[in-house]
Amino acid sequence: MSIIKSNGYSVTVGNHSLKALNAFLKKKHFSSHFVICDENTLQHCLPLLITNCPILSDAEIIEMESGEQSKDLAVSAHIWQTLLEHKADSNSVIINLGGGVVSDLGGFCAAVYKRGISFINVPTSLLAMADASVGGKTAIDFGGIKNSIGLFAQPAAVFVYPTFLNSLPEKHYKNGMAEVFKIALISDKKFWDELKRGYLNFVSVEQIEKSIVLKNNSVLKDPFDKGLRKSLNFGHTIGHALEAVLLGTKTELLHGEAVVIGMLVESHIALQKKLITQKQGLEIFYVLHRFFQPKKINEKHSEKILKLIRNDKKTSANKPRFALVSGIGKCKVDVEVTETQIKKAVEFFNKSVKFNV
Ligand SMILES: NC(=O)c1ccc[n+]([C@@H]2O[C@H](COP(=O)([O-])OP(=O)(O)OC[C@H]3O[C@@H](n4cnc5c(N)ncnc54)[C@H](O)[C@@H]3O)[C@@H](O)[C@H]2O)c1
Repeated sequence: MSIIKSNGYSVTVGNHSLKALNAFLKKKHFSSHFVICDENTLQHCLPLLITNCPILSDAEIIEMESGEQSKDLAVSAHIWQTLLEHKADSNSVIINLGGGVVSDLGGFCAAVYKRGISFINVPTSLLAMADASVGGKTAIDFGGIKNSIGLFAQPAAVFVYPTFLNSLPEKHYKNGMAEVFKIALISDKKFWDELKRGYLNFVSVEQIEKSIVLKNNSVLKDPFDKGLRKSLNFGHTIGHALEAVLLGTKTELLHGEAVVIGMLVESHIALQKKLITQKQGLEIFYVLHRFFQPKKINEKHSEKILKLIRNDKKTSANKPRFALVSGIGKCKVDVEVTETQIKKAVEFFNKSVKFNV
């Protein structure tokens, strides 16, 4: 079991972490315990949680429907209503048992209920363990815009229990793996080399821990996302735009799937800008294609993607600024990119899809 120190709280990683949660809760003497979960984590994770953390056997369970559509005001209102009905007070605690949807929503609800009560994240998806477990971002979607209402709020603690991944569906596993590859590619060549020799459907406890440590290094330098953690956006300028364009269509992508395409397109931009060599570009290309087998970007979406990039928060004076890989394990932020370079990279990516191996 290992403990990573973040912004005023600890992330405990390992298969004894739920026992550690039990001890933490005993020590804290919260007035009441609430567990938020969705129908999948209720079925697959809650029994394990209660067995290993018996102090929660009397917890009030708040179940919500799985999926991004639950990160909204109506579900938030249901959570606040339940907290009020069960007389949750300022010394109550919410335990978010789920993927990034549960932790973003549960964290947001806790952070504003009675001006803020404690919450603990127990991530159950790979994305939530490796990526969302540090950084203090909580949010819901509003007005059709992802994460448009939210605040930075730090959990009281995070407990990562990798056994939960045994029941995670494969496509969600792959989704989380995309962020693991990203953090390695932008910050740690040795870790990238290790991942590229591994398997997509297997991540070790040490690799989860490594991802958290690397993300935490960025987050600690820039707790409120004012600039220094911009490198984490690699693959996300194109990825977010693509995700948004396809939202609600038959070809909707999971976040990780969009980020993989984003990383491939943006690596080509890095190559055009001579931030990486041909050899490095080819390596990124082969590794990401082999592991993720991304799909082509439909030509008809290209203009919409460009439009979204023009409106992206990272675009200033009409010039898009990207965080780009600048070597294996390195990243350069605020790189000005032209629309011609983006178009060329998308074209190259589309041609390359047939080389999926
Ligand atoms: N706050 C942050 O720093 C941060 C970072 C990245 C992503 N996010 C947010 O996270 C969300 C995506 O998170 P996600 O990919 O975990 O999605 P998710 O929470 O929807 O989980 C994915 C699916 O897996 C199921 N699931 C989760 N754990 C399971 C388990 N152990 N066994 C069986 N099924 C399980 C869920 O029920 C769901 O159907 C997005 O809303 C995104 O904005 C937040």
